[in-house]
Amino acid sequence: LAPPDPALKIKTAPAPEPVERRLCVTTPSATYNVELRHDAGAWLIDAIDAATPNARLFILTDQTVAALHADALTRALVGRGRQVTLHSVPAGEGSKTLETASRLYDELLLAGVCRTDAVVALGGGVVGDLAGFVASTILRGIRSVQVPTTTLAAVDASVGGKTAVNSPRGKNLIGTFHQPQAVLIAREHLATQNPRQHAAGLAEVVKIAATSDALLFERVERDAKALLEFAPQPLLDVIARAVELKALVVGRDEREQGERAILNYGHTIGHAIESGERFRLLHGEAVMLGMLAEAEWAVTQGGSPKVVERLSALAKALALPTSWTAARIDLGALALDKKRQGEEVRLPVVPKPGTVELRNVSLEALASFVQRRTAT
Ligand code: GLY
Repeated sequence: LAPPDPALKIKTAPAPEPVERRLCVTTPSATYNVELRHDAGAWLIDAIDAATPNARLFILTDQTVAALHADALTRALVGRGRQVTLHSVPAGEGSKTLETASRLYDELLLAGVCRTDAVVALGGGVVGDLAGFVASTILRGIRSVQVPTTTLAAVDASVGGKTAVNSPRGKNLIGTFHQPQAVLIAREHLATQNPRQHAAGLAEVVKIAATSDALLFERVERDAKALLEFAPQPLLDVIARAVELKALVVGRDEREQGERAILNYGHTIGHAIESGERFRLLHGEAVMLGMLAEAEWAVTQGGSPKVVERLSALAKALALPTSWTAARIDLGALALDKKRQGEEVRLPVVPKPGTVELRNVSLEALASFVQRRTAT
């Protein structure tokens, strides 16, 4: 008898499709679902349809995302009998301004927008914040649905209802709280971002893990390579857990009266780095450097250097920048931080991954730490 074909032995059952998720965000002002799936097919159209009954839909996107996804989404919605118009802005942080918002107001008003209509934000953090801002202010507020196409928008920006545009004096200084009707995340959409954007989005996962979940932090340490490579199961698990943790925080403190400030970990110095770098760094990259800087500052206050070591190792594993000495830090932006109360800011401090404290820190002390550190 001929020996069995060895190829037969290695035939295995196809790996089970990873579980898809639906999470609920409940805040004092709204309750909505965050859905995560692999494809961007019929479920997405069903979900937009269900979240926006009787609305005309204004899809707001950027030119890069428009070329990739807007056609398919528009055609599918029109196929359902929905009235849809598409509005796109240039890609990048430069579009997050009052001028761009004003142009969009004109486009929507010319098209006859009414209060029963809805905005669909199709894109990354810039589009989500800008579209949310336009939705929350036009006609004193219309509905919105978030369809994030970057990891950063999926794990952070699209959930929780913060909307914003930048001022020439700093990032996100003009904005509102306006919860969406739904957040609809398709891995197929996320797969079209570039690897650098994906890695930068994972920095926001590191943020929520560092402040709220030691096990998630360990999982990201363990699965960093698989996450960067877009492995379906770890990616879906990690995004779902990050969203779940954020939803809990936002549910307890929608308008950032207290606990929600923990979501600003790395953002006080991070925004100053982002501004100093004139937005050459992606937001998540600046936040990673901001977390490292704020963790180093915590060491000067008696905190454990272990946190800096683990953050730094994780940044390396995720292909994120780790050195902020060369970064040009905008001390003016630091002084203008929108979270400041008088001369102080409520700074999240991480004594060890998974735990967080909010401390009142003088902005001047933080600025002089940054200056001393950048001088070395
Ligand atoms: N991105 C921080 C927050 O939503 O509060």
